[in-house]
Amino acid sequence: MAKLQTLGVLTGGGDCPGLNAVLRALVRSAIYDYGLDVVGFRDGFAGLIHGWAQPLTMDSVAGLLPRGGTFLGTTNRDNPFRYPVRSSSGTLEYHDMSGQVLGSLEQHRVDCLVVVGGDGSLHIAHELSQLGVPVVGVPKTIDNDLSATDQTFGFDTAVSIATEALDRLHTTAESHHRVMILEVMGRYAGWIALHSGLAGGADVILIPEIPFTLAGVVAAVERRRRQGKRFSIVVVAEGATPEGHERVVRKMIPDSPEPVRLGGIGSLVADEVERATGIETRVTVLGHIQRGGTPTAFDRVLATRYGVAAVWAAQDGQFGSMVALHGTEIVTVPLETAISRLRTVDPDGELVRMARSIGIAFGDEERPTAKAEPAGREGNTFPAAAGQAAKPAPSGPEPTA
Ligand code: F6P
Repeated sequence: MAKLQTLGVLTGGGDCPGLNAVLRALVRSAIYDYGLDVVGFRDGFAGLIHGWAQPLTMDSVAGLLPRGGTFLGTTNRDNPFRYPVRSSSGTLEYHDMSGQVLGSLEQHRVDCLVVVGGDGSLHIAHELSQLGVPVVGVPKTIDNDLSATDQTFGFDTAVSIATEALDRLHTTAESHHRVMILEVMGRYAGWIALHSGLAGGADVILIPEIPFTLAGVVAAVERRRRQGKRFSIVVVAEGATPEGHERVVRKMIPDSPEPVRLGGIGSLVADEVERATGIETRVTVLGHIQRGGTPTAFDRVLATRYGVAAVWAAQDGQFGSMVALHGTEIVTVPLETAISRLRTVDPDGELVRMARSIGIAFGDEERPTAKAEPAGREGNTFPAAAGQAAKPAPSGPEPTA
């Protein structure tokens, strides 16, 4: 194998706390340990397609450790194998731009490309690797839904932010005797909802992996009322789905590799809980606050370990691999194992069973019988929000860039 001289790096998909920490560690380790040149491609795969590159030096990464976002920029719209181009007639056409990518890598003499990204970006990294590009992946996403690693960086930060939100919602819920609903991100996985719900003392946690019923949520709130508790806290993952219904889609972005944007389930649950119980109910959608700002200490350390491990893997010639956390160890795994399926919460796993055993409801406890609560009966159905009825739920988890 030829000696490694130049490392390329890009950050792809949605931003995530710890991206800058990965870049800092990678650049420092590449320069300190091995005297490599490092080239950063701006705005994810768009930078590779259009040749938007810049040399990365010690100065470029100074002060980055605590900073949120990615100083290289990112996008989740630019898949080089299916790059959207508007034709002269205004229609969207998809072009294969992998030739341009190979050209950029050659122009900048990149011996190995490090792709820091989630499922979608790692899919693209894998495709590049199959074209013969030496690639190393770094697993990034607040959703923590990548298989082949026990944890992605960014997840811990998202959970801490959601937990702090729950602490704050507790005091106002208690003061006003209300039901407070917090909608959190996570796409098709309930990790953020489950962990923040446990850490923030939620009474009900609704996750995509456990279809719920309104009756189940209402029963949990009523049970607390009977116990003299005058408020309740519900965490709902954006991908949580009422049994027999479709996921609530906020919008579609047609030219994105992953066009579905979830959101809105919190309001539906809030409206129905208030109507069924008569208890004033409010909803908070945490949104991108979960992704912005400084990473936690845990994520800074994990991101640093991933950044250095990516340099080590490149130096070792472990191309087509991804760095991963297994237990307490950083290892490398084949890229395809990371993208073969999404890692979702086991509905019968230890965390869910423990949560149930301390009285947390998942909304599946009370299944309406056909007699007591016939299908479509007012109060136990989830009417689709305006403009959402016709949108199909994805048949399964889909990749995000
Ligand atoms: O994958 C990370 C994530 O934040 C998801 O939790 C969320 O569904 C999605 O990205 C939001 O995407 P966007 O930033 O395009 O709104």
